[in-house]
Amino acid sequence: MAERLTGKPVADAIKASLTDKVTALKAKGTTPKLGIIRVGARPDDLFYEGGAKKTCTAVGMEYEVFEHDEAITEADLEKAVTEVGARSDIHGILMFAPLPSHLDENKIKSLIPVEKDVDCLSPISADKLFAGNGSGFPPCTPTACMDMLAHYNVPLQGHKCVVIGQGAVVGKPVSYLLLKAGAAVTTVYIDETGTLCVDELALKGGSMELAKRLQGVTTPEICKEADVIVAAAGVPRLVKADAATAGQTFIDVGINADPENPGKYCGDVDYANVEPIVSRISPVPAGVGSVTTSVLCKHTVAACEKA
Ligand SMILES: NC(=O)c1ccc[n+]([C@@H]2O[C@H](COP(=O)([O-])OP(=O)(O)OC[C@H]3O[C@@H](n4cnc5c(N)ncnc54)[C@H](O)[C@@H]3O)[C@@H](O)[C@H]2O)c1
Repeated sequence: MAERLTGKPVADAIKASLTDKVTALKAKGTTPKLGIIRVGARPDDLFYEGGAKKTCTAVGMEYEVFEHDEAITEADLEKAVTEVGARSDIHGILMFAPLPSHLDENKIKSLIPVEKDVDCLSPISADKLFAGNGSGFPPCTPTACMDMLAHYNVPLQGHKCVVIGQGAVVGKPVSYLLLKAGAAVTTVYIDETGTLCVDELALKGGSMELAKRLQGVTTPEICKEADVIVAAAGVPRLVKADAATAGQTFIDVGINADPENPGKYCGDVDYANVEPIVSRISPVPAGVGSVTTSVLCKHTVAACEKA
C-alpha cells in the first residue's frame, strides 16, 4: 500500500512556522496583510477566498477583500489594482482570474508590483522567474507541490521527474522548480496544433529551455521511467496503472469534476488503480489543494519581511 501524501500535515507545518514569524513582525510594529482583488463572485473564487481568509486568521495575518462588479471598466480596474499595489500596509496581492472577457487580463495583472505578486500572476513576474531572476515569488500551487515533496522527504536531486501538462499556472512553473531542485525533468503536453509533445527540459543560464524532443514515446512509457510524476493536465483520471511502477511518487494536482461521481472532484491520476502499485501518492481532494493557501500566506509574510 502506498504512503498517502495528504496536504494537511504540510499546511500545518507551514502555518506553525508562519505563526512565529507573524508574531515577530507584529512585535516590530508590522502585521502582514494580504489584499484580495475579486471581480464578480464565481463560486470557485469565493471558496478559495474563504480558505485564504481562514489561513490568514489562523496565522495572525490580516486581509482585505477588494470586490468589483463584473461590469467594471478597464480604466476603473486598472486604477483599483494600482491603488492596492501602492498601499504600504498591503504586502501581498491575490487577484482572481480569469477576468471577464472585456478586460485586458495581462495588462491588469502587470500592474501588480513584482514584490507583492505572491502568486506570480503578472507576466513580468513570470518572465523574471523563468529567466532565473529570483527576486519574485513562484506561483502558489507549484510551490505547494515542492513543499509536499520536501515534507515527505522525496528525493529530487539527480532523480527523473515527469510533469504532465505545461500550463502557465501549474505545469510550466513546477517543471522549472523541479529543475532548480536538481531533477531531470521531462514534460508531456499537447501543443497548439493538438500534437502530444514529450520534451526533455534543461536550465541554461538560469532559464528553462527545451533540451530534446523525444519521438515515438507514449505517456505511460515515459511515466514508467520516472521516479516522480506530477500530473497537472486537468483531465480526469488521465494517468492510469499502465504509467505506474513500484517505488514511484505521484503528485496529483488536477481538480476535476468527477464524471463518474456527479458533484464530486477527482484528480488527473486514476488513484484506485495506481495507488496499489506505487510508493507514494497524493489524493484528490485532501492533497496539494490543501496546501496552496498556506503557501499564499508564506509568500505574503516573506514579502512583508522584505518590505
Ligand atoms: N490543486 C490546486 O490548488 C490547483 C491549482 C490550480 C490548478 N489546479 C488544477 O490543475 C490542473 C491543471 O491546471 P492548469 O491551470 O495548469 O491547466 P491548463 O489548461 O492551463 O494546462 C493544462 C496542460 O495540460 C496539457 N494536457 C491536456 N490534456 C493532456 C493530455 N491528454 N496529455 C498530456 N497533456 C495534456 C495541456 O497541453 C496543458 O499544457 C486542473 O485540473 C486544475 O483544476 C489545481
